[in-house]
Amino acid sequence: MQEQDSKYFTRRMLDHVLAGSSDRAAQAMPEQGGFYTDLARWQQEKTQFFMQTPQVVGFAGEVAASGSYATFECLGVPLVICRNEQGELNAFVNACAHRAARVAEGCGVARRLTCRFHGWSYNLSGKLAGRPDDKAFAPACANDDLISLPVSDKWGVLVVGISPAVSQEAVDSALDDIGPVLAGYDFTGVASLETRRYEVAANWKLVTDLSHESYHFRVLHRESLAPLMTAHTVLDDFGRHTRWGFPLKGIERLQEQDESQWPSSFPGVINHTLFPSTLLITSGRDAQLIRAEPGSEPGKSVVYYAGVCRDPATRAESLAAYQFGGDIFSTEDLPAAEQCQQGIAAGREQLSIGRNEPVVQLWHQKWRQELQGHSSGE
Ligand code: FES
Ligand SMILES: [Fe+2]
Repeated sequence: MQEQDSKYFTRRMLDHVLAGSSDRAAQAMPEQGGFYTDLARWQQEKTQFFMQTPQVVGFAGEVAASGSYATFECLGVPLVICRNEQGELNAFVNACAHRAARVAEGCGVARRLTCRFHGWSYNLSGKLAGRPDDKAFAPACANDDLISLPVSDKWGVLVVGISPAVSQEAVDSALDDIGPVLAGYDFTGVASLETRRYEVAANWKLVTDLSHESYHFRVLHRESLAPLMTAHTVLDDFGRHTRWGFPLKGIERLQEQDESQWPSSFPGVINHTLFPSTLLITSGRDAQLIRAEPGSEPGKSVVYYAGVCRDPATRAESLAAYQFGGDIFSTEDLPAAEQCQQGIAAGREQLSIGRNEPVVQLWHQKWRQELQGHSSGE
């Protein structure tokens, strides 16, 4: 974040902390359990929000160097994103033209992507570059190249379309409303740490809701997060996207300093939610990504938690911070979401979202409006 923006965010947070206040919604909002269980809604969301909408899957720094590649999975579609020798960014379905096994695993640097099944290899523009026992096959043609997908790293994050329904233009412009905020962090220099994958017995929106309120900190995270952070909330809306943050304890000490002395990054955590459900989390020099996507039915989701570090010299500290956050998320947050799903499925139909959960409210409204806009052909 640019220093000016960071100080603006810090100033608003400090004012809240000193006043004992928070950004709040105008009123409590009722919600229906069916929001998380309805099959038709879930199918429509899956198609419209995931298949037909650009998805943020990673950071530009993961494929910054020529010859670098990184793999991802999105709604079951295996993806490989790479930068070729000319410096061009490409995304492909990570499926070999021979019999569709993966041509890359994990991340790294390579001249060619080589399938581990029978050894067909591809250059980083997706073109078939070689195959063992070549004469056993018909002459190579375009069908033997990797399937190309639209991709962009315009604001320092990797945005990809996972189906032909997504245009390159849509991918390029997907983050324009919040792009300058993201670009301020300069994610072009970060490197991957690790990615965890969870299969969760809760709807993808219940999982995303977890990262949209601090009301639960003092209870669910009483021993893990609550000793470190407070629940004060600052929220900004950026068109289809949002950011909100909460501070480290002790932020009130900043009132004794001149703003010019303040740290260059916000002393706390900022969650940027990128439509439909990618959480980009920044805290100091570190960043993580949480992606929750629909699983095999409305009550199931697949969740990815990825971490990156900015400075190789402090990689161990960044990894520890990533693991600390991931352990809290997987042992405290995700089980809570699973309990909610089970309770809703058991007939707990009337739910409530408080004034003190403004980000949850805002995103429920966004998801609703997007579906309605689509249904009425707007
Ligand atoms: S499936 Fe890739 S070489 Fe056979
Ligand atoms: Fe939490």
